Order: sequence, then C-alpha cells, then structure tokens
Amino acid sequence: MKRSQFIRNACLSLGAAVVLAACGGGVSTTPSADGGDAAAGLWLVGTEPAFPPFESQDASGELVGFDIDLMKAIGEQAGVEVQFESLPFDGLIPALQAGTIEAAISGMTITEERAQTVDFSRPYFRAGLAIAVAEDDTETTSFESLEGKTIAVQLGTTGAEMAGTIKDAKISTFDSAPLALQELSNGNADAVINDAPVTLDAISSGNIGGVKVVGELITEEFYGIAMPKDSPNLEALNTALVELIENGTYDALYEKWFGTAPVGTLPEAGF
Ligand code: ARG
Repeated sequence: MKRSQFIRNACLSLGAAVVLAACGGGVSTTPSADGGDAAAGLWLVGTEPAFPPFESQDASGELVGFDIDLMKAIGEQAGVEVQFESLPFDGLIPALQAGTIEAAISGMTITEERAQTVDFSRPYFRAGLAIAVAEDDTETTSFESLEGKTIAVQLGTTGAEMAGTIKDAKISTFDSAPLALQELSNGNADAVINDAPVTLDAISSGNIGGVKVVGELITEEFYGIAMPKDSPNLEALNTALVELIENGTYDALYEKWFGTAPVGTLPEAGF
C-alpha cells in the first residue's frame, strides 16, 4: 500500500474510532528574554522539531514540515515575520506562559486542560493516537490488550496521558517520539502510543524498522497553534488561517506533506 493511501485509510478509520474524552493530557536584538517584538511584527514561534512530517530538521539543520510551511504561510498572510525557536515539547506551554515566545506550532493537540493556560487557534489538523507494536506481535491488538505492558511515550504528550490510564502498565518516557519508537523497535518496549500520522510516517519512511500499527485510532484529536492567554495576536492568527483554508493554500500544503487532500472539514473548536 502506498504511504499516502495508508495514511488516508488510517484517517478514515477515525470516523469509526471510539472518541474518548479530551485527553487531559526587524528582529529584536534580545529575542530570547521576552519573546519577539510582536508590536514590530515579529513572532517567535516555538516548536519541538522531531515530529515529522509536522516538524523536523533536514540534513542542513533547516526546519521543514507541514507545521513549518503552514506557520510561514500564516506569517506572510498576517504580515508578520516568523522566527522559529526549538524547544522541548513540555517546555512550549511554560514558554508561552512566560511570554518568551508568541506562539507554538508543534502538532499540539487542543485539550481542555491546556486551554486553561494557553489560547489555541482554530483547529488546523485532524489527528488521533495510534498503537504501534512489534511487527511479529500477534497478542497486542487493541487498547485493552495493553494492560500490564511496557509502553513507550513522548513526555508531556496526549499519548503519555493516555498510557497513564492503562492498568498495570509500565511507562517509559522519552524526550521525542522517534526515541520512543526506537525503544519499541529495539525490543525494549511492547508498544508506543503516539500520534498516528507521525508513527505511520516513521514506518513508511523506513526510519523505524520492525514496527506496525494495530487496531483503530484510540482518540480523535485536533491540532491547534497555541498562544499566550489573551494574546493580542490570536485574532490575526485565526484570520490568516481561515484565509489560507479558503484560498487553497492550506490544501496545497496538506497535499505536499500527506500526498492526499484533507479528509472532511475541520470543526471550529478543538473540543
Ligand atoms: N499531539 C500530541 C500532543 O499534543 C503530541 C505532540 C508532540 N509534538 C511534537 N512536536 N513532539 O500532546
């Protein structure tokens, strides 16, 4: 099966998946201390760049991915300069709260819990969590069958939160999704709970060997761009995002990174 088809089928199966409750889980010269100079049209945007195809670094260290292209397009549309800053995933919300960045785009799921401390844009991507196991594992076939298993996850993610609800599971936490997947590939974990598009991309790109996705997606989640609470930039962000959806730019970027048109339309809110 072609990668695009694989992803498409996985996305389609979302419809049937049990939807669980929201997981609850002009450059300023000194940008790092107090963020970009939003008044002068510069947004510092945080991202954890080990999450392809949303954000990763190419051979020359350049940030690439769907999120990166989308954020650049939003900057152009809104007339602001966008400068990316790499941060650990669990450091993004604290950085927004501290005001050291204006926004975060990082395949971040809009959750009720996170929305208490940051504001989210409209949803820009439909995703969900998938279970990955070793290719020769015939025993682990569903969320229920994860009981008592060793599960590798990325720190601070909805996947980690979900894993935390499994009875008697042993959770191994990693700083990035590829490291969690590598643990599974090495035979040191029984399963990984991670965002489906990223796990599928790791398998189809050959980055992770001997691993397969089983069962249905265990959640439906929507990604949003996060901003500090009551950010004056939120409206400009949402306006630009809607314009890009309406003028076809969004679809073109989706096609570029996922090889298919988006399935269905996005809701106005993430939960
Ligand atoms: N969607 C999941 C979450 O929000 C995982 C996101 C991880 N993103 C990343 N760039 N590592 O918790």
